[in-house]
Amino acid sequence: MWLWGGSLAACWARMGVGGGAVALLLTACPADGPDPTPPCASGCGVCVPTACPDQSLTYAKVEPILAAKCVVCHDGKQQDAWPMTSAAALRAKRDEIHTVLQHCQMPPANAPSPLAKAESQRILDWIGCGMPD
Ligand code: HEC
Repeated sequence: MWLWGGSLAACWARMGVGGGAVALLLTACPADGPDPTPPCASGCGVCVPTACPDQSLTYAKVEPILAAKCVVCHDGKQQDAWPMTSAAALRAKRDEIHTVLQHCQMPPANAPSPLAKAESQRILDWIGCGMPD
């Protein structure tokens, strides 16, 4: 736990989370998720919450991020890129989205605009909250 605590604290510090929040977030950011990769894997640096860190996080709050960074391709018109145009569609692909964000694999390198760490974290947090409408 202390080992994890150290690396997680470093992760949150990198993300600019203050001291008081770190203690709170450590409990909301344990090492187990659908993928065994450490939550703050080097080179990607997002944390994977397994408890909801913000109960007010609804689809409306992540939708602008998704629209700008994902739906540009995942609009249902482009081949291979499944539509990401509703909370229900996203919930159906929960594990896949979780995995690509955890490893910073989406958006692809040729995307018009990259996903900021804070934006990725916000989507992961929403997933941690059960992806509510
Ligand atoms: C530049 C276009 C583009 C953007 C932007 C983009 N994607 Fe994708 N995405 C694709 C394509 C094409 C595929 C299907 C082929 C593949 O898996 O690489 C895909 C596949 C996926 C998959 C399926 C992976 C699997 O294992 O089946 C997920 C999940 C995903 N994208 C999530 C996202 C998320 C989340 C975002 C926004 C943060 C995003 N994508 C942004 C083009 C894009």
